[in-house]
Amino acid sequence: MAKRMITTELIDEDRPIENHLRPQMLTDYIGQTKVKNNLKVYIEAAKQRNETLDHVLLFGPPGLGKTTLAGIIANEMGVNIKITSGPVIEKPGEMAAILNNLQEGDVLFVDEIHRLNRQVEELLYPAMEDFVIDIVIGKGATAKSIRLDLPKFTLVGATTRAGMLTPPLRDRFGVVDRLEFYTIDELKRIILRSAQVFNVAIDEDGAIELARRSRGTPRLANRLLKRVRDFAQVKYDGKITKEVAGFALDLLEVDKLGLDHIDREILLTMIERFNGGPVGVEAIATTIGEDPGTIEEVYEPYLVQNGLVLRTPRGRVASDLAYKHMGLQLSPKSE
Ligand code: ADE
Repeated sequence: MAKRMITTELIDEDRPIENHLRPQMLTDYIGQTKVKNNLKVYIEAAKQRNETLDHVLLFGPPGLGKTTLAGIIANEMGVNIKITSGPVIEKPGEMAAILNNLQEGDVLFVDEIHRLNRQVEELLYPAMEDFVIDIVIGKGATAKSIRLDLPKFTLVGATTRAGMLTPPLRDRFGVVDRLEFYTIDELKRIILRSAQVFNVAIDEDGAIELARRSRGTPRLANRLLKRVRDFAQVKYDGKITKEVAGFALDLLEVDKLGLDHIDREILLTMIERFNGGPVGVEAIATTIGEDPGTIEEVYEPYLVQNGLVLRTPRGRVASDLAYKHMGLQLSPKSE
């Protein structure tokens, strides 16, 4: 099992990578079948050749298991993992120290890798390609550059949108995988597994109801499971059934499709303020007081996936399904 080595405050010790809810090996990881099967081959091949695994870029909406997969990659390779994130590394020297402190074969997980600043990112190019970094010592006429050999390592980068990475960085990843929203059945299995870990009673229909309303996202499923467990314990006899899950999720304002109040506000804004669209993300964001990036990366993917929002060249459009889901009349222009 991977041991975490903490060397600097830039390495995040608090991330619950060893959280008992997270699967530790590929066989315990539910869903993402394509990504999982491919990774299994790459890991096996690298181990047979006694090499480090190629650098891996994981992208997709938050909460789908990018950090979990990075931990699993380290476990399967039998190496340590160090975890950091793009915005916390401000200087190239900080990244140089992290890289220099890795042990041969280690996994370095960089979350939000699209938020690395340019100098730090440029330091990564030779590090990823040739496992060297160039450090400038001194200033002005006496400055000289020395080349430092690094241990071989695997960089696992995570980002919500691969399109936000610069091409030179993206091109240096040998493996690029997109994580998808989970199906209801996959979420149901994750919920049943988590319920076992929490030692809470749940029946199949209770798990399905929770799965339906978890936005295709394990992190949310596990969070909702904990809250529903509280209602089951205090208001019912402790067991999570369809009725208990439905009761609790209604109170939590998670609707039948798993939309929360911000999702619904986005749809309402598009329909009532912009006549169903087309409307730009910026305009929606300004109207509801949210950050456009958050709308685009966190909220929109699920709404698009479920056919509630359509992306067109002229902007976002609320679909007929969105009107129906919100219980509103279609606008005259679409009749
Ligand atoms: N818990 C969170 N994500 C999971 C996954 N993909 N498989 C199993 N358990 C999980």
